[in-house]
Amino acid sequence: MKFFVDTAEITEIRELNDAGLVDGVTTNPSLIAKSGRDIVEVTKEICALVDGPVSAEVTAVDYAGMMREAAVLAKIADNVCIKLPLTLDGLKACKAIVSDGRQTNVTLCFSANQALLAAKAGATFVSPFIGRIDDIGWDGMDLIGEMRRIYDNYGFATQILAASIRTVNHVKDAALIGADAATIPPGVLRQLVKHPLTDKGLDSFLADWARSGQKIG
Ligand code: E4P
Repeated sequence: MKFFVDTAEITEIRELNDAGLVDGVTTNPSLIAKSGRDIVEVTKEICALVDGPVSAEVTAVDYAGMMREAAVLAKIADNVCIKLPLTLDGLKACKAIVSDGRQTNVTLCFSANQALLAAKAGATFVSPFIGRIDDIGWDGMDLIGEMRRIYDNYGFATQILAASIRTVNHVKDAALIGADAATIPPGVLRQLVKHPLTDKGLDSFLADWARSGQKIG
């Protein structure tokens, strides 16, 4: 399973990338606004840090506008993955951008039928928003399960990128159900390594070792 980090904060990306936890990055207009940085500048910096795909999202809602913005974003670096909303114009732009050889991430996916359309448009990644589905009292993980079955039924190469991840259990459940990738907020990514029994076990090993008076090397 690929791990993408869902942020535009350079310090967070650098730290997690240095730990070998980052296969890619996703941003969105809200995350770019939160960073307080210019979209082109910050995306360029992220692309220089990370080898994998870096999703940068268009903000136009019409096909021509999306294609104009996608051309600007694509010039930033070869690993920019163009992120497009799951609308008719977004799907049309997806098809055109993919046929130019550029990766795409179709975002704001909330139903299996939307996911099917995005796969038919040739999307490289489709992002089902798990947390936001849970927020309205449904089960976001059901959508990932449905997508997995549909994509496998027809052999679509489109990758399921679990998004709007809020908890470590979201990551585990998405992995169990067969998501290809998850885009994870930095805080949740750091929590994945934590277990109280690991901390407790390490403390007792170190205490016993100190009592033994030995040293390695
Ligand atoms: C996905 O690419 C989005 O950036 C993100 O996962 C949205 O998450 P949110 O629902 O926490 O805003």
